[in-house]
Amino acid sequence: MWEYSEKVLDHYRNPRNVGKIDDADLIGEAGSLACGDSLKLYIKLDGEKIKDAKFLTFGCGSAVASSSILTEMIIGKTLDEVRQITNKDIADELGGLPQEKMHCSVMGQEALEDALKKYYGKDVEIGFAKSSSDKVVCTCFNVTENQIWEAIKINGLKTVEEVTNYTKAGGACGRCKGAIQDILNTYYKKQENESKLTPTQKILKIGKVIEQEISPQLQKDGGDIELVDIEGDIVKVKLIGVCSSCKNASMTLKTFVESILKTKVDSNITVEQV
Ligand code: FES
Repeated sequence: MWEYSEKVLDHYRNPRNVGKIDDADLIGEAGSLACGDSLKLYIKLDGEKIKDAKFLTFGCGSAVASSSILTEMIIGKTLDEVRQITNKDIADELGGLPQEKMHCSVMGQEALEDALKKYYGKDVEIGFAKSSSDKVVCTCFNVTENQIWEAIKINGLKTVEEVTNYTKAGGACGRCKGAIQDILNTYYKKQENESKLTPTQKILKIGKVIEQEISPQLQKDGGDIELVDIEGDIVKVKLIGVCSSCKNASMTLKTFVESILKTKVDSNITVEQV
């Protein structure tokens, strides 16, 4: 049995702003009855400000609670302000949702973005909102590549199962699971490449770590270290003072110098004494 926060239970039992707005300026839709839950979000504007919001939803208690809290989160705010709201914000505002129910918070974000897309125009990129060029990955739940990518990015998802919990993709026939795994692989590969240091940044960082963290430690024992050269991942150093004549010099290099550089700069680094 899933654990629900008091706030989820409160919004489920006493949902706020249920209903429709006949003269709504914007209507956002997400999910579909065929997929088991759907949400229609009505927004009434006063200039750029959201004067009123109501919703109609078909789904479980978490879907009701997510929709209800979303209306409270957006009423009184400008369109620009609510553009920043993510599914994570909706779930956080509810005091959390069980992992298996996170797709309800995603449905809230999607409905809001669908409404915003109608205001800003279809060419403006907004979070989960589908575009005509977006490829459908999961045909059972009509989930696109961009929606899966956004869910991974916002929530730090690591596994196919987590993606299913957040987007429903993969939760029926399972045929799309391979494609979901490919998206996860591409996302984290891209992250890895972006986080890599340029060669110049790496050289500067190695110098800084040696100077500020390794050298002071060796000096305490009457020794020191000097950076001689860097060739790719090989860092050439010279041990000075007592360190140079120490019979444990090679051990010091591996267990102390190299391990600090591996942790602080790059796990591929090896250290050589010259
Ligand atoms: S295609 Fe995704 S679950 Fe069937």
